[in-house]
Amino acid sequence: MKILVTGGAGFIGSSFVRYLLGAREDAEIVNLDLLTYAGNLRNIEEVAANPRYRFVRGDIADRVQLREVFEEHQFDAVVNFAAETHVDRSILDSAPFVRTNIEGTRCLLEEARRYKVERFIQISTDEVYGSLGSTGSFREDTPLDPTSPYSASKAAADLMVLAYVKTHRVPALVTRCSNNYGPYQFPEKLIPVLITNAMENRPLPIYGDGMNVREWIFADEHSRAVLMALERGNPGEVYNVGSGHEKTNLEVVHEILRLMDKPESLIQFVKDRPAHDRRYSIDCSKIRREWAWSPEIDFCTGLAATIEWYRTHQDWIREIKNTSYLSYYDQMYTRRDETLAGTASSKEED
Ligand SMILES: NC(=O)c1ccc[n+]([C@@H]2O[C@H](COP(=O)([O-])OP(=O)(O)OC[C@H]3O[C@@H](n4cnc5c(N)ncnc54)[C@H](O)[C@@H]3O)[C@@H](O)[C@H]2O)c1
Repeated sequence: MKILVTGGAGFIGSSFVRYLLGAREDAEIVNLDLLTYAGNLRNIEEVAANPRYRFVRGDIADRVQLREVFEEHQFDAVVNFAAETHVDRSILDSAPFVRTNIEGTRCLLEEARRYKVERFIQISTDEVYGSLGSTGSFREDTPLDPTSPYSASKAAADLMVLAYVKTHRVPALVTRCSNNYGPYQFPEKLIPVLITNAMENRPLPIYGDGMNVREWIFADEHSRAVLMALERGNPGEVYNVGSGHEKTNLEVVHEILRLMDKPESLIQFVKDRPAHDRRYSIDCSKIRREWAWSPEIDFCTGLAATIEWYRTHQDWIREIKNTSYLSYYDQMYTRRDETLAGTASSKEED
C-alpha cells in the first residue's frame, strides 16, 4: 500500500509515520511537508533511512507540485495531517489558515479524485464543534459551531471533504480528535510550554481562570485510531477520537509541577484568549463499537513519559527556541494585546 502522508514532519503526522512503518510491513510512505515553522525533519529522523519512506518538501496548496507527486507515485491512500494548527496564530493572522487548511485540502481532494485514490483520511479536530457547558459530549452529528479562525478553517475543510464524497465520489472520511500531547509537540502549545518553561524555572502562563477543560489524548493513541480509519473507515463518515481524560488547564499545570517537583508559584495567569472555548468532551463510542478501539495510556503515565522526553531532548527544544520561537512568542503577546485593544475600541464605536 502506497500512502501519501501530508504534514508528516509535524507533531502528530510524525507520530503516524513512525507508527505506520512499524505496524504495517507492506506500507510505503511519501511524506509531503512544507516544513513551516512547525515542521521539523528531526521529528522523523529515526525513519529517514527506511527504504519504505521518502520525504518530499512541498505545499498541499500548490496544485502543480501536487500533480507531479501524484503522477510519480500513484498512491492508494492519502492521510492529510498538514495544517496551520495554532489557535493564537489564527487570531493574529487567519490568511495562512484559509490557504493551507481549506484551499490545501481542496487541492488534495482534486488530485485524489483525478488519480482515483482508494481512501482519503482528513485529520480534523473536536474544535469544529465549538464549546460545551459543564455537561454533555460532542457526537459525530453534533452541529459544527467553530469559534476561532483555526477551527472555522478546519470545519470548512471537513465540509469540503464530505462534499467531494457526495459530488465526486472521492472515498474520503473525517476523523475528529481531542487535544493531543506527547513527544515532539512544538513548544507553543499548552503542555510543552508548561514543561519547557518549568524546566527553566520560568513562569507558566495560564489563560483566564484556568478552568477551561480539554480532553487529552497521547498522540500515538491518535495514530492508532488513524490507521484503523484507513483500514476500516467508511467513506462519507465522521469518526470522533478521544480519551475520556478531561482536565482543566489548572489540573494539567498542577500535575506537571507535581511530576517535575516545581513550586506552584511558577503559575502565572494571563489575559484570556478571545472566544476561548470553555470545554471540549468527545463521545467516541462509535469507534469503540465499530473498531474496538480504546485508549490504553492514562493521563498521568502519558504526561510522565512526555516530561521525560522533553527532559532528555533539550537540544531539540534549544534548536527551536533559538530560531523562530522566542521572537514569535514575544511578538505574539504584544500584538495580541494590540488586537484586543483594537477590538474593544471598534466595539465602543459601534
Ligand atoms: N495537536 C492537536 O491537539 C490536534 C488535535 C486534533 C486534531 N489535530 C489536527 O491534526 C493535524 C496535525 O496537527 P499537529 O498538532 O501535528 O500540527 P503541527 O502544527 O505540529 O504540524 C503541522 C505540519 O503541517 C505542515 N504544513 C503546514 N502547512 C503545510 C502546507 N501548506 N503543505 C504541506 N505541509 C504543511 C507543517 O510543516 C507541519 O509539519 C492537523 O490537521 C490538526 O488540525 C491536532
